[in-house]
Amino acid sequence: MKADLTTHIKSLTLKNPITVASGTFGTTDEYSGYVDPKKLGAIITKTITVKPRAGNPMPRICETSAGMLNAIGLQNKGLEDFLEHKIPYFKKLGVPLIVSIAGETTAEFTELAKAFEAHRDVVSALEINLSCPNVEGGGVNFMKKQERILEAVKSVREGTGLLTFAKLSPELGDVSAIAGTILKQGIDGLSLINTLRGMSVDIRSRRSKLAKDFGGLSGPAIKPVALRYVYQLKKEFGVPVIASGGISNVKDALEFLIVGADLLAVGTANFVEPGATQAIIDGLAAFCRKEGLRNIGGLRGSYKSAEEKVSGCKL
Ligand SMILES: Cc1cc2nc3c(=O)[nH]c(=O)nc-3n(C[C@H](O)[C@H](O)[C@H](O)COP(=O)(O)O)c2cc1C
Repeated sequence: MKADLTTHIKSLTLKNPITVASGTFGTTDEYSGYVDPKKLGAIITKTITVKPRAGNPMPRICETSAGMLNAIGLQNKGLEDFLEHKIPYFKKLGVPLIVSIAGETTAEFTELAKAFEAHRDVVSALEINLSCPNVEGGGVNFMKKQERILEAVKSVREGTGLLTFAKLSPELGDVSAIAGTILKQGIDGLSLINTLRGMSVDIRSRRSKLAKDFGGLSGPAIKPVALRYVYQLKKEFGVPVIASGGISNVKDALEFLIVGADLLAVGTANFVEPGATQAIIDGLAAFCRKEGLRNIGGLRGSYKSAEEKVSGCKL
């Protein structure tokens, strides 16, 4: 029996629920020696800003006991370069493309949204990065004021009718309240979670292992936190959710599917094992076959909560 991994998210139909988390897959072509990007359900780009950004000084990544810290600072070549060089590449590739965007002002959010609206033939959706821990303007500190988040999502909505996900982090504060507010503005779904701020110290120099004091923690260390947020927010709002946070193997992917994630974004694992996405896709198909499931849809949201267990238990 062939397992069907087809995933439907509103108007999108993806051949499987596996994608790459923003900023962890280069610009895709670098990985083509290890992974056939055509096999991915979708591709999420590095966050694109209007102007080019050099990012933060080096060192800006370091390994931690169960993950990594990064303080890249949204390095990218800017909107113009992306439109000129990357859009043609993705058009040829033909994999559903989700472009991650971040503005420093509301006008920039609108500009980015309009620019990608004009490329609907290539761009399937936008992910609004409202939670980068490593930049000043537009980053998680800036966005801590809820009215700024609201302005950002309104500006994007004004510029495009594309399917739009808001990427949030527990660092923003009350994620559930923020999600409730922005979903009322017509945002279609959520992307959970971005990295959690952490630090790592070199005991000889007594300085940070990064050029900055803090970086964003990712990888297996944050998986339980991500899983909890995906579960809680999916249950509360029932909207499409892109999950990221420590998804490294098929078991991780299954956990996120079971708590209700629609799309699974593999991030840090790409640095450890460039073929991780491929192994997960194959593993999901093998799991479905073994369990006698014709399609992956039956697994999604099948979590049985502890509350149910308690109420069903006769004492
Ligand atoms: C090196 C690196 C760069 C990242 N760059 C971005 C980015 O540009 N935009 C964004 O929204 N998230 C960015 N992230 C966060 C990831 O997309 C992802 O949400 C997070 O790392 C959790 O997933 P993981 O534990 O599988 O890595 C970055 C993460 C890493 C490790």
